[in-house]
Amino acid sequence: MKPIQVGLLGIGTVGSGVFNVLQRNQEEIRRRAGRGIEITMVADLDVARARAVVGEGIQVVNDARAIIANPDIDIVIELIGGYGIARALVLEAIAAGKHVVTANKALLAVHGTEIFAAASAKGVMVAFEAAVAGGIPIIKALREGLTANRIQWIAGIINGTTNFILSEMRDKGLDFDVVLKEAQRLGYAEADPTFDIEGVDAAHKVTLMSAIAFGIPVQFDKAYVEGITKLGAADIKYAEQLGYRIKLLGITKRADKGVELRVHPSLVPAKRLIANVEGAMNAVVVQGDAVGSTLYYGKGAGSEPTASAVIADLVDIARLHTADPEHRVPHLAFQANTLADAMGTLPLLPMSEVVTSYYLRLRVADQAGVLAKVTGLLAEAGVSIDAVLQREADEVGGEGSTQTDLIILTHDTREGTMDAVIAQMQALPTVLAPITRIRKEELN
Ligand code: HSE
Repeated sequence: MKPIQVGLLGIGTVGSGVFNVLQRNQEEIRRRAGRGIEITMVADLDVARARAVVGEGIQVVNDARAIIANPDIDIVIELIGGYGIARALVLEAIAAGKHVVTANKALLAVHGTEIFAAASAKGVMVAFEAAVAGGIPIIKALREGLTANRIQWIAGIINGTTNFILSEMRDKGLDFDVVLKEAQRLGYAEADPTFDIEGVDAAHKVTLMSAIAFGIPVQFDKAYVEGITKLGAADIKYAEQLGYRIKLLGITKRADKGVELRVHPSLVPAKRLIANVEGAMNAVVVQGDAVGSTLYYGKGAGSEPTASAVIADLVDIARLHTADPEHRVPHLAFQANTLADAMGTLPLLPMSEVVTSYYLRLRVADQAGVLAKVTGLLAEAGVSIDAVLQREADEVGGEGSTQTDLIILTHDTREGTMDAVIAQMQALPTVLAPITRIRKEELN
């Protein structure tokens, strides 16, 4: 069979990885796919850079639409990123009858419903293994390997930049701002790190996993997103003293009244495997009713790890290219005509309805009755306390200090209840600074 022909839109870090790995492993990939997979056209605004990567013999253009217009191209790989031109080009490629492979989590988390509908109508595939957790085949695992299960929850470290920063903060006892600057200097964080440190990138990824796990449409606009910018070295230290690590988790969970979809820093018991995932690595825990707990670990970014996921999609498409579209694996794991209906029984829950446990840190006046007042308010609200830690005032504020930190761990509480009781505690004259609240996930 003649090789399947691929056009590549954007040949930066990931694109060059795809080109190099496809070349290096072409014989094994051909034996797996049943036919060759060849990149025959590359589009990049920087034609000279693209030419330097691919050498001679491959058509290099600066206009992506020249690839979409080429009737010989079967698959378009979109590695441009963002919601703008990438969305237009993906939709045009679909309209032209091309299969699409993309690493663009932002595009699919926000415009996935439109893109998957267009692809289904045209009978083409949109594959996106590289969009979530880079080289870890988590989409394949959720969509196919775990297909027997009623998925109960997923919790993932799915942003390497923030995991690197949190690991450094813990190792070196440094605050966020200091470590961010160092991470930027070392190339672990982008010059504009907003999407990573504010949790948006992780929210894009967990939105996609949530849709696949529960058979609901992608609904990024309903995700709760909180990043790591307000975390201090003190909280990381106190968490450790209580037997926890702080990780930025993307969480999606089947609850009684619907589905939770949230990204925020979380205390995780230090003994859990996922709590020990350090540096820029990614890991995802999936809990299914039949399989129990499963863990996936690996590189969530980088040239060849991400290329590994892109090429897996190319091989899938090469194998299923000639299959009747009805008999391919659905984009979001569940048959497309069931997704909208599932929103009736599995609505995404507002954050006020999420139930979790909490770490609270209160900077208080070190005087009689303060602890009683605080715990009294929690008791009145029906919030059960799991543990309390109070530091020596001298240790917190220096010698002769009249302030101290009070750390409280709670049992499961509805977020709306916790919001209200935090507001009451904050109003106490003996609470001297904004209360820190970090959610706690036991993951058992
Ligand atoms: N910026 C992401 C991260 C990688 O830090 O994990 C691409 O999604």
